[in-house]
Amino acid sequence: MDFLLDHKKTIIAGFILTAIILAAAAVTGDGLDASLLIGESTRWLHVMSGIIWIGLLYYFNFVQVPSLGGVTAETKADLFKEGSIVRRALHWFRFGAMFTLLFGLILAWGLYKNGGGAAFSVDIMIGMTFGIIMWANVTFIIWPNQQKVIGMVEATAEEKAAAGKKALLASRTNTLLSIPMLLTMVTSAHGSLF
Ligand code: HEM
Repeated sequence: MDFLLDHKKTIIAGFILTAIILAAAAVTGDGLDASLLIGESTRWLHVMSGIIWIGLLYYFNFVQVPSLGGVTAETKADLFKEGSIVRRALHWFRFGAMFTLLFGLILAWGLYKNGGGAAFSVDIMIGMTFGIIMWANVTFIIWPNQQKVIGMVEATAEEKAAAGKKALLASRTNTLLSIPMLLTMVTSAHGSLF
């Protein structure tokens, strides 16, 4: 059980267990052809990256930001330095967002290939629109402004404060949108609202 002491090995073990389940399904099941395997793997990777992204979004909004209220500039500089929790969390957050979008667009392409425009229900259109707005917020507002806040990009104290406010508002917008986004993303394939 030593592998549980190393997070990379733990993740690898999770992938190996998944591969075993897929192999068992290929041998014993009757539904697993190659195209289904690619489609299901894409959906699974999409949801995995979505969990990383939205999990960290909720961590920032519900845990980190509320506890950094009265922290001094010196302590913040320490908390935001290279290799810190904040930098690691932002790294996984950004890549989570990128891969969620990438796998989401591959899924959308799959829908289009199989059913054309008619395959896009109102549910998935709402989910995708909100998801894409959220990704754009991460890429074009949150990350550029966070880089100033954490000192990766040179900025004065006033610029840092303004950048922090912009990033916070975009992050709060994403928290708000994530709630209906997730509902319609899931209902698009289970029960359909519209
Ligand atoms: C970033 C933009 C996003 C796009 C373009 C997108 C696109 C899609 C598409 C096309 C599907 C497949 C629907 C189907 O096969 O019928 C899907 C499914 C799904 N997405 Fe997204 N998505 C995005 C963001 C997210 C986020 C942030 C999450 C959060 C976890 C998420 C969670 C899910 C889930 C759980 C499903 C599976 C629905 C099911 O089959 O039960 N998506 N997404």
